[in-house]
Amino acid sequence: AAMSRQQLKIRNSESGNSIHIPSPHQDAHQHHSHHQNPMSKLLSHIIPPQDQSKKLISSSTEWKKLVKHAEYIEGTHLRDLLQDQERSDEMFAQHDGVYLDYSRQRVTLETMDLLFDLAEKQKLEEKIDAMVSGKKINWTEDRAVLHTALRAERKKEQTVKKEIIVDGDDVLDEVWDVLDQIKYFTEAVRSGEIRGFTGKRLRNIISVGIGGSYLGPEFLHECLKTEPEGINKSLGYTLRFLSNVDPVDVERACADLDPEETLVVVVSKTFTTAETMLNARTTRQWLWDFMGDGKEVVRKHMVAVSSISSKERVEDFGIDTEKYFFRFWDWVGGRYSVCSAVGGIPISLLYGFDLFEKFLLGARSIDKHFTEAPLRQNIPVLMGLLGVWNMSFLGYNSRTTLPYAEALLKLPAHIQQLDMESNGKKATIHGVPVDYPVGEVDFGEPGTNGQHSFFQLLHMGQTVPCEFIGFLKSQHDLCIDGEPLSSHDELMANFFAQPDALANGKTPEEVLAEGVDEDLVLHRTFEGNRPSLSLLAPKLTAYSCGQLLAIYEHRTAVQGFIWDINSFDQWGVELGKKLACDVKDHLLDARKNGSKIKAGNPATSRILNYYVENSNQ
Ligand code: F6P
Repeated sequence: AAMSRQQLKIRNSESGNSIHIPSPHQDAHQHHSHHQNPMSKLLSHIIPPQDQSKKLISSSTEWKKLVKHAEYIEGTHLRDLLQDQERSDEMFAQHDGVYLDYSRQRVTLETMDLLFDLAEKQKLEEKIDAMVSGKKINWTEDRAVLHTALRAERKKEQTVKKEIIVDGDDVLDEVWDVLDQIKYFTEAVRSGEIRGFTGKRLRNIISVGIGGSYLGPEFLHECLKTEPEGINKSLGYTLRFLSNVDPVDVERACADLDPEETLVVVVSKTFTTAETMLNARTTRQWLWDFMGDGKEVVRKHMVAVSSISSKERVEDFGIDTEKYFFRFWDWVGGRYSVCSAVGGIPISLLYGFDLFEKFLLGARSIDKHFTEAPLRQNIPVLMGLLGVWNMSFLGYNSRTTLPYAEALLKLPAHIQQLDMESNGKKATIHGVPVDYPVGEVDFGEPGTNGQHSFFQLLHMGQTVPCEFIGFLKSQHDLCIDGEPLSSHDELMANFFAQPDALANGKTPEEVLAEGVDEDLVLHRTFEGNRPSLSLLAPKLTAYSCGQLLAIYEHRTAVQGFIWDINSFDQWGVELGKKLACDVKDHLLDARKNGSKIKAGNPATSRILNYYVENSNQ
């Protein structure tokens, strides 16, 4: 089931004209039925209603069975489900040290069977295969989706020979050419063989980039910052990220750094992103201010990580494209790019290439599991199916990532982009509007900090499926004399307690039995029945960080595959970018000519004029 554009067209025409019948469950959750869907209405003059009725997965028997089954699940309580030994024995999966416990999801063994039936109906295994073998599954952009190739084995090390060819190019050869180039370059910088314009060692790195060109590397950096090997390797070096176009971010990134010792890495797939290009020009000016505005300053202090098609733009900017340009490919989406030079350059400059390679190995281990393990034991598949279940059948439209590890503080932000930019969609791959909920709101914070901020809502407000991530061992455990448990045990006690508190809750009878005043019983009752899952790994290292990354990347893809959406484009970011350009034109005009702004509507005109008048003072 290679999903080339051609074949998708065939699938579309094969899918017939069946009319979707909204399920009673969808109505119960106020989901859009086909007839109520505003997108359907909007599209009706472009795509006739009869064509819009192409088969949606929600009209399949497999989907409908799950809808019906959700009604049954509504009548169950996790407090009871958790007492079932057989169920509990089934609801976990393990791979290479990673342990997933999903017994606190609102599912029974039957639910899982039905979800696997849906996976089969959606040809999940074939879709995974199509992705990792380089088929152009990102059909709206006519691109392959090959982030797994970024961490695949070198061809000569493969036990089972496998080639990936995209548009005639050998992907694995190209990936390893660039990895070798990263290794050589970063080692030469770290050894002092490559130096700055004035001959000083390059010890500071500013990584300029935004979105996928920033969030993944920052998440990895935060993990390694306190990891013993990471601490060791980064001694004497500094890494800062410059992302926001807010000038304050420039101040935070550059202040107190010596430009003569600084290497600026401009990370941008397109090399056109407005924020990144302005920050690149700003840092170039900063370098020039200190070392003169010569060409060589840029050639010795600026590096580009970008797609091959941007090479000319990189050259025009003044960066040396022979030695200081690290390419990646159209088949790597920004939010899936941390395993390319996007993460490779900043991370290897700070921590050495070996540590980056360990990260790639961890991701590779999960890739192998994802592509080879049976679906029922496949961690990302299980997590993806549970995501679909919670969102589309139980109607929970948000989800929270709760790492009980301070060093994972940037993981929730990475997942936010990874998942929300991937699955925040409305059109199916068949070109009709989805009529079922897709794309959760993802957010999160490390525990236990989160417990003292938004957990009140998790326990008593809306139901938000929770994902707890913990480790057997700490990067740095502490045990104060006289304390019975180590600090890590203290942390983990919370990691284990919260899922049970969410699942079991506390009944009014239990509250009353504690002698609570009757008036307060409702306020102190926990209804429970709130789903969560727990992921445990041995210790937070570069390797386990790679494992986590790949688990989440694949979880996102699985949900997109089941939902029949393209998780690999991001057209939704374009309109805002275009309007920002219009606003910039208005501001320029008003600042230059003192003229009043006349924007597209009176409200926008008013606030823009208010801004110009009051910020000028
Ligand atoms: O605007 C969204 C986006 O295109 C993301 O998808 C991407 O990760 C980010 O901007 C940065 O893009 P680039 O790497 O091309 O600068």
